[in-house]
Amino acid sequence: MKLLRFNSYDEYVELQTETNKQKLGNVWVSDKELAVVARYIRQHVPGAAFGICHGVRNGYEVHRLRELLGIDVIGTELSETATEFEHVIQWDFHEVDEAWQGRVDLIYSNSWDHSYDPALMLDRWMSCLTPTGRCFLHWTPDHGERAVGGADCFGASLEELTQMAEEKYEVETVLKVKQWWGRRLSLSKNVRNVLFASPRTVRLVVIKHRTKQHAPPARIKRGQAHILGSLGALGCK
Ligand SMILES: C[S@@+](CC[C@H](N)C(=O)[O-])C[C@H]1O[C@@H](n2cnc3c(N)ncnc32)[C@H](O)[C@@H]1O
Repeated sequence: MKLLRFNSYDEYVELQTETNKQKLGNVWVSDKELAVVARYIRQHVPGAAFGICHGVRNGYEVHRLRELLGIDVIGTELSETATEFEHVIQWDFHEVDEAWQGRVDLIYSNSWDHSYDPALMLDRWMSCLTPTGRCFLHWTPDHGERAVGGADCFGASLEELTQMAEEKYEVETVLKVKQWWGRRLSLSKNVRNVLFASPRTVRLVVIKHRTKQHAPPARIKRGQAHILGSLGALGCK
């Protein structure tokens, strides 16, 4: 596991935003993977009504999941480019809106490797899940320690990521989605290129609250995340 340090929160935001702008038209997630997420939610969270995708750039996964599930899904994006895309808000995913707490049925992210404080991030995300909700963390070898650099400031092996989640939560399963490289033009006017996500199999770590611990997690005040997160980043390896 490896986590890069930042001298300040501003430095973190600037790096993420600059990289976001360079790659604004790219899409990392694949339709196949999102179909697996949607199928899993239909089977395991039948009354699902609200989802959040974290770190969505142009919001491709938000739109696909809205189409596939027919529910309200929004996306968070740190960069100011968020305002260009429907259902995407400019928001640091280390923070929690009080309105989300205990009310989110589905969380999906392939951007957790952009976190400055992964343990805090996961706690914040899990505090938003309903007792039956599921959080999907996409993992490929490109999310490992060797890929850490620049905006990809955190890296973990699949085992490390799973262990981190299991410290407080239940890893229900790790789904495999076989994919391959490819590229096609998107039909959406918002998205220039769609990159089919990974040269190797994608893993989806499916996390939920521990079964015997159905009480909603402690509420976290908005605004706390920045302070804790920055300290965490400065104090990490
Ligand atoms: C690797 S891209 C993935 C984009 C998209 N999910 C996809 O599949 O194409 C990571 C995105 O997360 C955004 N990001 C990084 N840190 C973030 C944060 N703390 N909160 C919200 N978004 C963040 C970046 O700006 C970038 O657009």
